[in-house]
Amino acid sequence: MNADIGLIGLAVMGENLVLNMESRGFKVAVYNRTVEVVEKFENGRGKGKNFVFAKSLPEFVNSLAKPRKAQIMVKAGGPVDAVIEQLLPLFEPGDIIIDGGNSLWTDTQRREKACKEKGIHFFGVGISGGEEGALKGPSIMPGGSKEGWQALAPIYQKIAAVAEGQPCCLHMGPDGAGHYVKMAHNGIEYGDMQLICEAYAILEAALNPSAEEFAQIFSEWNKGELDSFLIEITSKIFTKKDPDTGKPVVDIVLDKAGQKGTGKWTVGHAVEMGVPLSVIGSAVEARILSSLKDERVAASAILHGPTTKPYEGDRAKLIEAVRDALYASKIMSYAQGMVQLGKASELYNWGLNFGEIASIWRGGCIIRARFLNRITDAYRSNPGLKNLMLDPFFAEILQRTQANWRVAVQTAISYGIATPAFSAALGYFDSYRTASLPANLLQAQRDYFGAHTYERVDKPGVFHYDWYS
Ligand code: 6PG
Repeated sequence: MNADIGLIGLAVMGENLVLNMESRGFKVAVYNRTVEVVEKFENGRGKGKNFVFAKSLPEFVNSLAKPRKAQIMVKAGGPVDAVIEQLLPLFEPGDIIIDGGNSLWTDTQRREKACKEKGIHFFGVGISGGEEGALKGPSIMPGGSKEGWQALAPIYQKIAAVAEGQPCCLHMGPDGAGHYVKMAHNGIEYGDMQLICEAYAILEAALNPSAEEFAQIFSEWNKGELDSFLIEITSKIFTKKDPDTGKPVVDIVLDKAGQKGTGKWTVGHAVEMGVPLSVIGSAVEARILSSLKDERVAASAILHGPTTKPYEGDRAKLIEAVRDALYASKIMSYAQGMVQLGKASELYNWGLNFGEIASIWRGGCIIRARFLNRITDAYRSNPGLKNLMLDPFFAEILQRTQANWRVAVQTAISYGIATPAFSAALGYFDSYRTASLPANLLQAQRDYFGAHTYERVDKPGVFHYDWYS
């Protein structure tokens, strides 16, 4: 009974996480429903290391030091419930069950409530960083009781990535808070990825750079304000060649994007709460549209875009404009994401701390980026900040980049290139900074056909006009 923590589910993420834990000095019990998987690990990557290779669930549970800590790393949904059901009769009050997958936050809330009734702490822990992060240090977003967190912090803060001396792991809040923050992280990840793809699409249409040139452009961008993991891997992607054809790998990858669902959850809940999340929404829809490959191929033979000429302007200036558009759009995406987190925090009474959230995203996770420091600063200096674009640092960037942002979107439009996320971001900026929108006409329409009433600009009250008279 001396394992510091146990983990159920030895797929790649689980395996890498336990190797990470073990390498930081923890004794870890491992268990997998298919026992051969445990045996394979015992004789392979886990060989000679400080693990308990449990062949049954009771053996696994009995090997854990009290309060017992068991982390589940199985597919989100039913499989998580099934493991909890098996663990509960073997666990005692005070023990802790952790779900480290990408679970839906409402499932986490339900599970937390059910476990609490039995005196068990249930944690929904968002873990980002992919396989590599799991092994070397991910960003960790835990949600659960304060008491349970005291027992878990020494382990999770030790295995997390470190950014500027701080572990990228802080207690997010109770019940579903950790999984919600991870879901929002994934939504932002969708936005970042789509924006990068749109930058690529505009440059390709207008300038047609070679893969080497693209690698160079992205690697330059990675030295400045856009410095981030996703820009870095994008520049590396362009350097890889397909061994079969000798072509750049990127050119032989089919343009059909997959998605597991966290982006859709993010957008769905934003809409439900009345939060504009147009950049991430466009990113989710862009993936959906991309997946309609056959339809698009058929449509391309019928529907034609504008006739275009080779770009006649200054190449370097266009590259700069697209870079600025990418940065400004990215700020819009984070601004929207932070508003969403704020609304959810109010709704569920989570007390989320946005500065802290941005700070634990600085290392380990997929959206890690230099500019997250600035988001932390913005919320530290003004915890009540209504929207990131109102922070003086970000307001200045938007002012400085907006002319180029418009050039990039105009270029895309003139070439007939879809840039839904760039355009949504600019639309958000232009709507938010505008004192009067055309919603006066919209209210008149509503009142016309449905007597929904309207307010007036010149006096208080609720009014109806007799439109049919
Ligand atoms: C991470 C990633 C990880 C993942 C998701 C998203 O933070 O490490 O977000 O959770 O890649 O599974 O995948 P989809 O693109 O398939 O939705």
